[in-house]
Amino acid sequence: TDRYCVFGHPVEHSKSPLIHAEFAHQTGQSIEYSAIEAPLDGFVDAWRQFVADGGRGANVTLPFKQTAFEMCDTLSHRAKRAGAVNTLILGGNGRTYGDTTDGVGLVRDLAYHRLELAGKRILVLGAGGAVRGLLEPLLQKAPSEVVIANRTATKAQQLADDFADLGKVQGGGYEDIQGTFDLVINGTSASLAGDLPPLPEQLFNKGGWAYDMMYGSEPTVFLQWAGPRGAKLLDGLGMLVEQAAESFFLWRNVHPDTSMVRDTLRQSLN
Ligand code: ATR
Repeated sequence: TDRYCVFGHPVEHSKSPLIHAEFAHQTGQSIEYSAIEAPLDGFVDAWRQFVADGGRGANVTLPFKQTAFEMCDTLSHRAKRAGAVNTLILGGNGRTYGDTTDGVGLVRDLAYHRLELAGKRILVLGAGGAVRGLLEPLLQKAPSEVVIANRTATKAQQLADDFADLGKVQGGGYEDIQGTFDLVINGTSASLAGDLPPLPEQLFNKGGWAYDMMYGSEPTVFLQWAGPRGAKLLDGLGMLVEQAAESFFLWRNVHPDTSMVRDTLRQSLN
């Protein structure tokens, strides 16, 4: 039995052990997956100890994604661009390889819901770590334009500059938002505080979608706002499942089917 875990602080409410147990069962892989709460200043030691105890790989969640990035011996291209690592893989040589599956997880979730991105106009709210991780996988789908809007406009402009080589992307403040969009993704942590960024009333194209990276037993404030304004709604539960599936693939070289665990998880929220 190969050992994996998720490191976080706090980590007790993590859904990852449930998801990976389901994936292992479904694919017949013999793995054990636990949750480990590392001390705030002790993530690197916790990983080294886990490896010493036979660990083969791990997920990394808040607040350790950046520390994990700095710790890795080798990084994937997408982890370098994201500046964050959510998946650790122990190499045969004992070196630690880091990757990030969060951004690709969101894009896979959109594909699961048959949302076509090519040629679409997309608005991304927020300019923190979550959005940085999303931009490369999003721009690879060839949208006509990605607009990034953030409370601190300069951060959005900087992000747009950093990714301008991958497609048409521009950044600014909420007051700079112009026109309507096929997809609006909320990547701010505002909804944690029950806040909503100041958004124009006319935001969605006909048939447009609202996506919140957060999820919960109730719709987020952003989705509650977007519903009556004509958008189709998705929360971040599917993203969670798809990033887990991609991590599982990196470790085991098998793609799990994500549909069953989606239902299990949704039920576990109520
Ligand atoms: P994460 O890793 O989740 O992206 P982060 O890097 O701290 O976290 O970024 C949080 C994002 O949420 C930022 O875009 C932040 O806006 P600022 O860059 O202006 O700080 C945004 N955010 C947090 N609270 C917010 C609020 N109450 N209203 C609007 N935006 C908010």
